[in-house]
Amino acid sequence: MKEITIAELGENMVTAISKEWMLVTAGSVESWNTMTASWGGIGFLWNRPVAFVFVRPERYTHGFVECCERFTLSFLGDAHRDILNFCGSHSGRDCDKAAATGLRPLATPDGCVMFEQARLTLQCRKLYRSEMQAAEFLDPKCLERWYGPGEGQSLHTVYVAEIEHIYTR
Ligand SMILES: Cc1cc2nc3c(=O)[nH]c(=O)nc-3n(C[C@H](O)[C@H](O)[C@H](O)COP(=O)(O)O)c2cc1C
Repeated sequence: MKEITIAELGENMVTAISKEWMLVTAGSVESWNTMTASWGGIGFLWNRPVAFVFVRPERYTHGFVECCERFTLSFLGDAHRDILNFCGSHSGRDCDKAAATGLRPLATPDGCVMFEQARLTLQCRKLYRSEMQAAEFLDPKCLERWYGPGEGQSLHTVYVAEIEHIYTR
C-alpha cells in the first residue's frame, strides 16, 4: 500500500461510491465490522477534505462507527463484487464476514481496519454526527420512498469525517 494526497485522488468519487460501492468499516483488527454502502460523498468542509456517510441505526456497523473515533471507506473494485454483495446483505451480528468472504483485515498506522483486497482506502476521523429528522425533509417523496412503511427502517445517522489518509495499491 502507498499513501497519496487528496490532490492525487484523480477519480470520479460519485461514480466510485454509487456504482462500485464501498465498505464502511470501524473497529480494530481484533474487533471490527463492515458493511456495504452506496450512499455518501466526498467534499470540502470546514477547510478540510471530508467524507460523509449515512448509516441506519439498525446496522451492526452503526454501533462500531458510533464508538470509534475513526472509520475507513474501502473500494474493492468490480473483481470483488461478491464480497460487496455479501457484506450488503448479511449482518455481522449473525456471521463472521471475514470468514465468509475471505476479507483480509490489515491495521492502518492509526489502528483502523483496512483490507488487503482494497484498491483504495480512505481513513476518516469523525467530526460531526446527526440523526436525520422526518420534519426536515423538503421533498416528501424522498421520505416516503426511502423511509416509508414499505421500507420499515429508521432514518439514517449522518457522519461527516475528515479524510486523514488515503492508501492505494
Ligand atoms: C449496494 C448497497 C448499498 C448499501 N448502502 C447502504 C448505506 O449507504 N447505508 C446503510 O445504512 N446501509 C446500506 N446498505 C445496507 C447494508 O450494507 C446492509 O444492511 C448490511 O447487511 C449491514 O450489515 P451489518 O448489520 O453487519 O452492519 C447497502 C446495501 C447494499 C447492497
